[in-house]
Amino acid sequence: MKPKNLQTKIFLDSGNPDETKKVIELLGFLDGQTTNPTLVSKNPEIAVRLKKGEKSTESELLTEYKNIVDEISRLIPDGSVSIEVYADDKTKAEEMLQQGKTMFSWIPNAHIKFPTTREGLAAVEQAIKKGMRINMTLCFTQEQAAAVYAATRGCQKGDVFVSPFIGRLDDQGDNGMDLIANIMKMYKVGDGHVELLTASVRKLDHLLYALQLGSDIITASFQVLKEWGEGGMPLPGDDFIYDSGNLKPILYKDIDLAKKWQEIAFSHELIDKGIEQFSRDWNKLKQ
Ligand code: G3P
Repeated sequence: MKPKNLQTKIFLDSGNPDETKKVIELLGFLDGQTTNPTLVSKNPEIAVRLKKGEKSTESELLTEYKNIVDEISRLIPDGSVSIEVYADDKTKAEEMLQQGKTMFSWIPNAHIKFPTTREGLAAVEQAIKKGMRINMTLCFTQEQAAAVYAATRGCQKGDVFVSPFIGRLDDQGDNGMDLIANIMKMYKVGDGHVELLTASVRKLDHLLYALQLGSDIITASFQVLKEWGEGGMPLPGDDFIYDSGNLKPILYKDIDLAKKWQEIAFSHELIDKGIEQFSRDWNKLKQ
């Protein structure tokens, strides 16, 4: 059962419905699941075919993705399931929007993942007008989180997530957890319509510190959730101190949330790298 005093929603980051079942068994609950092209490519059935050199057409691949999220959705009908649109460096907003529309119709509890790029934000501005729930992915900066806030103004709480990727920031020597703390602080003066989803969680301490900070949602791999579950689902006490080791601090910036998203400049090498990796992992499955 979910610990009574746990407000944060716990999601599984996986493209494998068997892991969904195992986590539900282990924890006794699961609030949602996030998927992406890389995780889909690691789905056991797809991975076996990939190893044999078998490829799928675009339409077969989308059907497989649909079947995967459909199975997950049936396991957590009251939760949220994130489905990611395909985007490379040339994909335009309109194309993302069309994909998103189709994917949103696949299951009743979808959040559609769009990259937090200028094209992704332009797509989302239209998507929310059509009533789509969204999850803005590949967030590496406070400016991107501010732009998500601005682009989705007027949405209801629960309809919009922003996903900062903390593990990837850690990988390059920056303290990813600072980004979570900074976005939480920035959003405090807002209306609360964007939920912060801590993603790219690599270890139990990431999860515990995100809980301590009060992240709305945390998505974590099967391994991390297993460790947490087997440890009795501990919550961080007042004495919990996150050790960021030698990671470089990410400093807080004052950003005006009243700005239009088009006025908020941002860039980060990990956004481009992330887009490249997701598109590569998707394309390697295709004929
Ligand atoms: O949901 C996507 C995010 O969690 C990615 O994690 O481990 O590929 O950086 P990772």
